[in-house]
Amino acid sequence: RKDLLDIQSLTDEEIEFVLSNAVPFKNLFKRSVKKVPTLRGRTVLTLFYEPSTRTLSSFEVAASRLSADVINFSVSTSSVVKGESVLDTISTLEAMRTDYVVVRHSTSGIPNLIAKNTTASVINAGDGFHAHPTQALLDAFTLREVFGDNLSNKRIAFVGDIQHSRVARSTNLLCRRLGMKTAMLAPSSLIPRNHPPEVDIFNDWTSLHAWNPDVIYLLRVQSERQNVPFFPSLGEYHKIYGLTDERLKPIRDRGLYVMHPGPVNRGVELTDNVMSYERSLINQQVENGIAVRMSVLHWLRPGSLE
Ligand code: CP
Repeated sequence: RKDLLDIQSLTDEEIEFVLSNAVPFKNLFKRSVKKVPTLRGRTVLTLFYEPSTRTLSSFEVAASRLSADVINFSVSTSSVVKGESVLDTISTLEAMRTDYVVVRHSTSGIPNLIAKNTTASVINAGDGFHAHPTQALLDAFTLREVFGDNLSNKRIAFVGDIQHSRVARSTNLLCRRLGMKTAMLAPSSLIPRNHPPEVDIFNDWTSLHAWNPDVIYLLRVQSERQNVPFFPSLGEYHKIYGLTDERLKPIRDRGLYVMHPGPVNRGVELTDNVMSYERSLINQQVENGIAVRMSVLHWLRPGSLE
């Protein structure tokens, strides 16, 4: 395979390959092995038109641990600000013969467009509302660390701004491919109208608990993607849908795990106590991002094409 653009296009075998190969990469860090020569002489270009902390830095760390050279294309100081198009940018960068382009863009479908116009392997690092496949893979890897490789019939509930979340789309799809049952809890304005019919929908925490989730996956309210306010106020949202200290108690009593892709909005979708909750997997997700992205880069490496 040349590119990683979404979860839909992956086969079960490819998903299994990436997840199982991330295990030895994670074990390398435990043995304090800092670098392996797998991608020596290869170049990874990171092209982020939207801000990122976790995805960008973990791709940089993953590529450098595989001994690749990393070029961080700084959009804000490039000719993009003078109006250069994505395709003109790509054709300029093509001349530099990079092996991978890791791209994030606010418009859905831009990574697909780039993939059609470059010989490099394109990895989607998040496009609009559409997809964030490496986040989904690292989430699945984290769930397998907690529950074992067989996730069938485990239950995960996505809570928050699902409508604007590429993470929810990709992670929900991958969890279901791996046999999990999935649900959504959000105000009806933040539930996608075209959600898969098999997903259970809830509007309050009490009904969600009756569904018996194993994992609560919190999502950030993406105010920057909303033309009109979706809810009276963020404070009101926190009271009704947020994971408050009061709501953390039954979650702790039932031993549920909590996940979040980051960045978090403290005081909106969660409180400080959720961040330090003993079954919060949030830091584990970030840590696993490196091993999973190493596995993705290794899987797509030039010379391993079908
Ligand atoms: N989870 C995630 O995509 O975080 P960043 O926006 O910081 O990359």
